[in-house]
Amino acid sequence: MTKDKVLIFDTTLRDGEQSPGATMTHEEKLEIAEMLDDMGVDIIEAGFPIASEGDFNAVSAIAAQAQNATICGLARANYKDIDRCWDAVKHAKSPRIHTFIGTSPLHRAIPNLSMDEMAERIHDTVTHARNLCDNVQWSPMDATRTEEDYLCRVVEIAIKAGATTINIPDTVGYTAPVESAALIRMLINKVPGADEVIFATHCHNDLGMATANSLAAVEGGARQIECTINGLGERAGNTALEEVVMALKVRGDIMPYTTGIDTRKIMNISRRVATVSGFAVQFNKAIVGKNAFAHESGIHQDGMLKNRETFEVMKPEDVGLAGTSLPLGKHSGRAALRAKLKELGYDLADNQLNDVFVRFKDLADRKKEVFDDDLMALVTQNDSGEDRLKLKSLRVVCGTTGPQTADMVMEVDGTDVETSATGDGPVDATFNAVKAIFSHGARLQLYQVSAVTEGTDAQATVSVRMEEDGRIATGQSADTDTVVASAKAYINALNRLLVRREKSDPGYDVKGVSYKDT
Ligand code: KIV
Ligand code: ZN
Repeated sequence: MTKDKVLIFDTTLRDGEQSPGATMTHEEKLEIAEMLDDMGVDIIEAGFPIASEGDFNAVSAIAAQAQNATICGLARANYKDIDRCWDAVKHAKSPRIHTFIGTSPLHRAIPNLSMDEMAERIHDTVTHARNLCDNVQWSPMDATRTEEDYLCRVVEIAIKAGATTINIPDTVGYTAPVESAALIRMLINKVPGADEVIFATHCHNDLGMATANSLAAVEGGARQIECTINGLGERAGNTALEEVVMALKVRGDIMPYTTGIDTRKIMNISRRVATVSGFAVQFNKAIVGKNAFAHESGIHQDGMLKNRETFEVMKPEDVGLAGTSLPLGKHSGRAALRAKLKELGYDLADNQLNDVFVRFKDLADRKKEVFDDDLMALVTQNDSGEDRLKLKSLRVVCGTTGPQTADMVMEVDGTDVETSATGDGPVDATFNAVKAIFSHGARLQLYQVSAVTEGTDAQATVSVRMEEDGRIATGQSADTDTVVASAKAYINALNRLLVRREKSDPGYDVKGVSYKDT
């Protein structure tokens, strides 16, 4: 069976960047464009050159740097927009002008054009674009809410005027899969000249049907899918590139189409786009979400350990992940705990495992996710299960006139030790107090505060990462008092470092004082 090629048109840098708050810098746009080009995207819509000087410069620079992809710019249906667009994309090895106008009754009312006047405008602007560039895409915006007869009429005009790609946008995410397929099929069957152009589909996700609508449009005869990384875009976003590409790859049995995308590059670009756009990817998002290849429940984990196909329809490696993750939580079972402990270097006998499993369940009931450090602490815990270092009390004086001071009482191996320390701010003073009580050579690698609830009484979650001699331990704590949360997270990380030390080098204290020789 020969598979039809479906072109992937990425509009992360145009439609995606239109999401409120998703503005990227010039350098970030160039970086994302390079990644898109490298992963095999056929057409990159790099921006809307008339929109701003910055957009014009970004589209020009992306056009000049692109190695393989066609570089496209967006233009409204007027000569000024089209000329500006051409000036930006003409630097590309393969340039394209994309011009559009809203054709539905609601959109025709805005420029107050009659059907005939709009038809004439389409003829003139597409002709103008085609005189500048061999590769012209035309879109009737809000096509899915445009009268069918009128849609056929304007598509025919655009084709006759020289458009080489006809894009049918579902601008407001209103259509459904059966309609999406039928609309493209109808246009291909009815419009004279339709067989000489490529039909494209451009779907928004307002009702959560964008990916399904795009795939249905392909069934109807579309051979270009417009999409964005992570589904970024206006309102609920666009069709997600990773979803359509992986759906076509995994379900080639019923959708015999191929794309030129190197799917192993998906994860990398998804993460980069999330970072530069500031739009974090929801945990349960298909393909690229943190949980897309994570299995927590005991039944699923047991199945996965025996045969990954039990609960996965594609390999994480195919999208550029190192592998499946089996996070341990309250739903996890013995099989996953045993596998995880083995990975951490603990090969426990059955009775030992049972013992740790009971403590693990107890901890998992209290904690959302149980990390490697938690498990190591569970295994190496002394009988009382207590940490060596504990915060007993903390009082901090801070304000505009320093020095900031922390008075602290900490329990070290069962004995209370008291100190007072100053520092450059309340957190620094607090960390200095811990160090004064329990001196150590560990280096603070990361200190991060995030609010988990809203308002001035928000719970702050503090994460601390410490490193000593290549051993890394993280600590976390939440409190409505950020400084208290910081102290507890810091002490938590130190306790874990002690556990790690004890495991890899028994008798060697984290302070750097070896007591095994004494
Ligand atoms: O959603 C839409 O209709 C668009 C057009 C400009 C193609 O983004
Ligand atoms: Zn759009």
